[in-house]
Amino acid sequence: MPNTQPDDLLAREITPEDAEAAAQLSEELGYPVSPAEMKQRIEAVARLPDHAIYVACVAGTVFGWIDVGICRHLQSEPRAEIGGLVVSSEVRGRGVGRHLITCAESWARQRGLRGMVVRAQIAREEAHNFYLREGYARTKISAVFTKTLGRPSHPTIPAPMPVELLELIPQPGGDSDAR
Ligand SMILES: CC(C)(COP(=O)(O)OP(=O)(O)OC[C@H]1O[C@@H](n2cnc3c(N)ncnc32)[C@H](O)[C@@H]1OP(=O)(O)O)[C@@H](O)C(=O)NCCC(=O)NCCS
Repeated sequence: MPNTQPDDLLAREITPEDAEAAAQLSEELGYPVSPAEMKQRIEAVARLPDHAIYVACVAGTVFGWIDVGICRHLQSEPRAEIGGLVVSSEVRGRGVGRHLITCAESWARQRGLRGMVVRAQIAREEAHNFYLREGYARTKISAVFTKTLGRPSHPTIPAPMPVELLELIPQPGGDSDAR
């Protein structure tokens, strides 16, 4: 393809039928996933009001995707977080990434959000340059900690104690053997 933005470039919301192309792009991003698993993820995100995924298509073929969601924390006002962005190496440098990021920003603006955030691995220098080019400022460097959770050995939220058991607990002022 020549080095200009393709005329027939368009972005639309992802559908489960895009799973195979999206999985291939995820592998390009460094996160391999099967098309079946990707389809489940797409279906799960489609049910979330605070999340969207757009694909960039040229002549009907998917060449990139962006994943955006509302990030809510106590210590900051809600922002839109780009959770993932990838453009096929076949069409990089032709405005596809810009088109996708514009979609994500419009999505955020429509929801009244005033800020965007994206976390990029320190080694992804090309992506850093891309974000700087798109008006993002580099504001922080963080360490990321992850943990794999096993199956819970006890219920996460304690169930309320049955009334019969509560009655067996000695009450203050009662005739218990308190020392
Ligand atoms: C980062 C990425 C999404 C950019 O997509 P793209 O389609 O190549 O970017 P665009 O063509 O829309 O570029 C938009 C602007 O950024 C600039 N740009 C893009 N890549 C750049 C780079 N590596 N270095 C410097 N500038 C860059 C372009 O020159 C363009 O600016 P201009 O129009 O003024 O020339 C793409 O390179 C990619 O998928 N990389 C691998 C995955 C990745 O790192 N994803 C980000 C994870 S956080």
